[in-house]
Amino acid sequence: MKVLITGGAGFIGSAVMRKAVARGHGVINLDALTYAACLENVASVEHDPLYHFEHADIRNRAALDRILVQHQPDIIMHLAAESHVDRSIDGPSDFIETNVTGTFNLLEAARAYWVGKDRPASFRFHHISTDEVFGSLPQNPEQRFTETTSYDPRSPYSASKAASDHLVRAWHETYGLPVVLTNCSNNYGPYHFPEKLIPLTIINAIEGKPLPIYGDGSNIRDWLFVEDHAEALLLVAEKGALGRTYAIGGENERTNLELVHSLCAILDQMRPKVSGHYMDQIEFVPDRPGHDARYSIDPSRIRNELGWRPSVTVEEGLKKTVDWYLTNEDWWRKLLSRHDVSKRLGVSS
Ligand SMILES: NC(=O)c1ccc[n+]([C@@H]2O[C@H](COP(=O)([O-])OP(=O)(O)OC[C@H]3O[C@@H](n4cnc5c(N)ncnc54)[C@H](O)[C@@H]3O)[C@@H](O)[C@H]2O)c1
Repeated sequence: MKVLITGGAGFIGSAVMRKAVARGHGVINLDALTYAACLENVASVEHDPLYHFEHADIRNRAALDRILVQHQPDIIMHLAAESHVDRSIDGPSDFIETNVTGTFNLLEAARAYWVGKDRPASFRFHHISTDEVFGSLPQNPEQRFTETTSYDPRSPYSASKAASDHLVRAWHETYGLPVVLTNCSNNYGPYHFPEKLIPLTIINAIEGKPLPIYGDGSNIRDWLFVEDHAEALLLVAEKGALGRTYAIGGENERTNLELVHSLCAILDQMRPKVSGHYMDQIEFVPDRPGHDARYSIDPSRIRNELGWRPSVTVEEGLKKTVDWYLTNEDWWRKLLSRHDVSKRLGVSS
């Protein structure tokens, strides 16, 4: 099987890429190499004959047409996106151009390619999206997002992803393009770009810098280990039912404050400070505008229909992650100088 993966030099795309090659699939990594990309994420597979890299932008339709015809993929897994909510608050236009217009281009290129091959029934366009399209849940643990939850995006990022989800469903209903969709919760794990909460906390902690907590830290996220997510994505791409959406979550809800406390406790054990505790570095900072209170996914469908289960608890996953950042300092240190990485973003309203 040959899989074209957009955004394969990013956090989740590279995890899918590494797993797909390990399974013997041919992969084409299509990536524009924005500030969030890092080709070192796929260094372990870059010399594998199954791996090909295409430096291309999904906003460039001609490039997409050329790449599809040249590589003849059986499946497209679409992960390329602008993905940082804080950046979407400061500069929403890139999010509209890549997440909406880019997805539209990719759908049109995929449709032309699929029609040109006489509409093979086995072809799949797998769109990877987020639980943030569903908006914000109350703290009541009874309520969780499912595949039928109404859309209610509240940030430029989630609105752009919601728009892309609608386009994908419309291309299925209108043109019959064989699609599957997934909406997942917050990922964490190795190769997570240093501007996101978990890597930022680990890095700031060992650098002796403040550990910023937005607002009072009561916002709840449902944490999913990236390797478990990559496994789920390949399962959906290979076995998901046509036109169907699968919600993917780790069933590991934590407030941001609880999460940072856990990271500090793990660091206290793995790399104790000369004096005091990492928790002493926590600093509360003004909240993000429109900060969603809670996300939580009910993953019953993917569990029951496809048999997917997360392989680690959040405690195990966080230990693995902290250990990875402590032993891969070379990887994250050079990313810190990239555009606005160490700066507080997303405070304008
Ligand atoms: N990280 C999460 O917790 C999370 C949660 C839910 C959904 N998602 C979704 O999963 C996907 C991957 O997320 P991620 O965290 O790996 O993102 P990421 O920011 O780490 O990587 C995105 C990749 O896409 C590439 N890219 C960006 N714009 C492009 C363009 N115009 N053309 C081609 N390539 C482009 C970047 O260079 C980068 O390699 C995204 O669609 C995101 O919305 C992520």
